[in-house]
Amino acid sequence: MKIAHRIDDLGTETAFAVAQAAAEWKAKGNRIFPFHLGDIDIPTAPHIVDAMNAAIADGKTGYCPGPGIPELRAVLADDIGGQRGMPVDAEDVVVTTGGKPVITKFLQTVMNPGEGVLYPNPGFPIYESQIEYLGGVPLPYRYVPTPDGFAIDLDHLRSLITPQTTALIYNDLQNPISAESTDAEREAVAKIAQEHDLWVLSDEAYFEMRYEGESRSIAALPGMQERTVILYTFSKKFAMTGSRLGCAVAPREVANIISTLNTNDESCTTHFVQWAGIAALQGTQEPVHRMLDEFRGRRDAVCDLVNGIPGMSVAVPQSTFYVFPDVTETVQRMGLTDVGEFAQQALHATGVSFCTREHFGRRQPGEDRDYIRLAYSGIGLDDITEGLGLLRDWVESV
Ligand SMILES: Cc1ncc(COP(=O)(O)O)c(C=O)c1O
Repeated sequence: MKIAHRIDDLGTETAFAVAQAAAEWKAKGNRIFPFHLGDIDIPTAPHIVDAMNAAIADGKTGYCPGPGIPELRAVLADDIGGQRGMPVDAEDVVVTTGGKPVITKFLQTVMNPGEGVLYPNPGFPIYESQIEYLGGVPLPYRYVPTPDGFAIDLDHLRSLITPQTTALIYNDLQNPISAESTDAEREAVAKIAQEHDLWVLSDEAYFEMRYEGESRSIAALPGMQERTVILYTFSKKFAMTGSRLGCAVAPREVANIISTLNTNDESCTTHFVQWAGIAALQGTQEPVHRMLDEFRGRRDAVCDLVNGIPGMSVAVPQSTFYVFPDVTETVQRMGLTDVGEFAQQALHATGVSFCTREHFGRRQPGEDRDYIRLAYSGIGLDDITEGLGLLRDWVESV
């Protein structure tokens, strides 16, 4: 039987493949230190779970409106608008099954086949997958290392733009590299979007996952709200990755189209989960603060330990729950030429499982450094210390 041609262009989130390799190694009786997946080992807070159960008991188990229940849209509009200092109406908010569908639905709405879309590389792999799957032209823009982490190579980004470029995906508080724009960089990106009349997808999945300072949204800059779709998710902030709850905040015309796409694809987002979302936003924020405190401690430990491994170095990121160390010298020290081989050998020698730069979009021409991504959201402090200690011992033993 034949499979449709477009499937040839469909990528995936290859971190799940690393999870599979780790699970197989574990099934053979080995111990695993999981740094590979951005999932969270902290359960959803009890008051959110209670609200979900109460909604089920109360019969909130049927279909509900495609763009989301009005009560949640109103609470999200207040919260998202308030946090970002911009006016958001409930009608601008379309509830989705997590943040991820916003990527696809944004591209379906604004991009014709053959049109170019700029996106971060290394970056969340679904951007590239969906641009190609929907027949667009992928325009990956790169980052340069700085003493604090990474900065967008703005000249490179500008050089990619053609008259057929229609949109720019921007992931401030970035997965996998934990980069964060300065105000000047964010303003420069906004200026480019306006000069070239680009739609912007602002992926704000980690907007609240920060340890110092305050997050800012490109959508709140002058002239940006009317061209920007915000991807918002409950997954990270409220430890609700499996509940699948998020939303798009979009100019009204785009919001209405995304709502119609919802009706075509899912009918609606799970009804009772939306009531849990209201409890998450309106209830105590204490669990969020506790989780951030926990992650801050893990981040500090991971950065300290990584910087103690021969050949590895990383700056301490202020946000997300990833670190993206340069491991070029470590890979060389181990006598390897391929960072993927390094990851595989590390798994088998120490049980430490992680993704490499290769999992976050194709390498760009001229890229000669090797990086790995360590996610510390799914592994406790003791295991972080033990796992990275084993990794150091293994590297030192060579
Ligand atoms: C940058 C980025 N955007 C979007 C998502 C999607 O999140 P969700 O679980 O809400 O679909 C993720 C998840 O890891 C992410 O890292």
